[in-house]
Amino acid sequence: MKPQTPPKTYRVKSFGCQMNVYDGERMAELLGERGIEPAPEGEEADLVVLNTCHIREKAAEKVYSDIGRLTKAGRAAGKEPMIAVAGCVAQAEGEEIMARAPAVSMVVGPQAYHRLPEMLGKATRGERATDTDMPAIAKFDALPSRDKARKKRFPTAFLTVQEGCDKFCTYCVVPYTRGAEISRPFADLVDEAHRLVDAGVREITLLGQNVNAWSGENAKGHTIGLDGLIRALAKLPDLQRIRYTTSHPNDFTNGLVACHAEVDKLMPYLHLPVQSGSDRVLKAMNRQHTADQYLRLLEQMRAARPDIALSGDFIVGFPGETEAEFDATLSLVDEVGYAQAYSFKYSPRPGTPAATMGDQLPGEVMNERLQRLQASINRDQLAFNQASVGRTCDVLVERRGKHEGQWLGKSPWLQSVWFEGAAEIGDMAQVTLAEAGPNSMRGEVRERAPA
Ligand code: SAH
Ligand code: SF4
Ligand code: F3S
Repeated sequence: MKPQTPPKTYRVKSFGCQMNVYDGERMAELLGERGIEPAPEGEEADLVVLNTCHIREKAAEKVYSDIGRLTKAGRAAGKEPMIAVAGCVAQAEGEEIMARAPAVSMVVGPQAYHRLPEMLGKATRGERATDTDMPAIAKFDALPSRDKARKKRFPTAFLTVQEGCDKFCTYCVVPYTRGAEISRPFADLVDEAHRLVDAGVREITLLGQNVNAWSGENAKGHTIGLDGLIRALAKLPDLQRIRYTTSHPNDFTNGLVACHAEVDKLMPYLHLPVQSGSDRVLKAMNRQHTADQYLRLLEQMRAARPDIALSGDFIVGFPGETEAEFDATLSLVDEVGYAQAYSFKYSPRPGTPAATMGDQLPGEVMNERLQRLQASINRDQLAFNQASVGRTCDVLVERRGKHEGQWLGKSPWLQSVWFEGAAEIGDMAQVTLAEAGPNSMRGEVRERAPA
């Protein structure tokens, strides 16, 4: 590779889960600290970071087609960008990327992105660099202080508190791409939350692949879980809302259930994936819980917080899934009545046990099941929104709507709400939910607390 001109502008493109989005923001800040600016909208960037996701098929293929498109566009504009591949595909297929895509200068795994600036130095000297090491937690120590880094005021932020996964569900690549479960230290998290709030953030979403597996030591040296962390963060006066995602049913504690009853700032929303309603399938997936245990847990949550909005993840067409087993999933959905849920066709992932199981189902069967499941989920989502009509609640204003005088924000139940009237981004507006659509609500503003 030829030596390259040091980049002046960058663009980070993140795919996949919210933790990848968080990582993407941190990489942007690291580059910003080195004087590299975000590329203006519509302009080619000197450095493009593809922050990739490996969770389902075609993700890797997408990386190669993105690289092809970038080099072509670059050539047309008279300058080829420097390309870095980051994220979970980088971790899983780093060497292959280097071999197949000569235009890539850097491959950096999800636990190594703090080394990106160093790698950039190498790339400008014409040396290609790969770093897919997994040194526990080091990347978080390399964070620039977020108050300086957050130039744009935005009222919501993600905060990664836990990473990695030890669960090894048989279909999933995450334990291989993100490594073992680790928790960031309590003091670091409180510190980062302080900085965010000082920079104008009003809602923090705590992130982790298994966020409720977080544990740490508080200032008094006591071991605490996610509930303890939430209670500590709730004491920050200007922080108004706390959310967390994604939880695993087996890491749920009574303390966390109690938090939902007792901590007002903790929003009434729970994303708790279950994947299937069939115990045979759950066992084959190595989920280590039954459908009934999951339902009992949701019952406890509803007892603690009757208005809680429930969300989940589902996989249809896991190897060997029968029609009756798929029906069990539909029954579970009927029983829960989700406010929102995500459903996916099973995708065999290289290196996972399920990929080599017998009885992989044909695509048509999966498509047909996915459609039926999504119809049930959409029905329940609309029903949840319709049942919210007439409720008056706080809406945290996140952005302007399509038309002049329209504003968009989120209800406590994570519904997208739009309304008309005087407001500013960051306001907590008191809104009566007036009309329900499948994906959003129209609200009428009562009062607003200025940002
Ligand atoms: N740690 C979280 C989420 C991980 S990935 C959890 O355990 O809940 C997000 C979702 O992607 C999963 O909940 C699952 O529904 C889906 N998923 C993961 N691997 C998949 C695969 N091989 N095929 C299809 N969907 C998958
Ligand atoms: Fe993947 Fe299962 Fe871990 Fe979730 S709990 S990240 S689905 S292995
Ligand atoms: Fe995708 Fe990696 Fe997240 S595989 S879902 S980006 S942990």
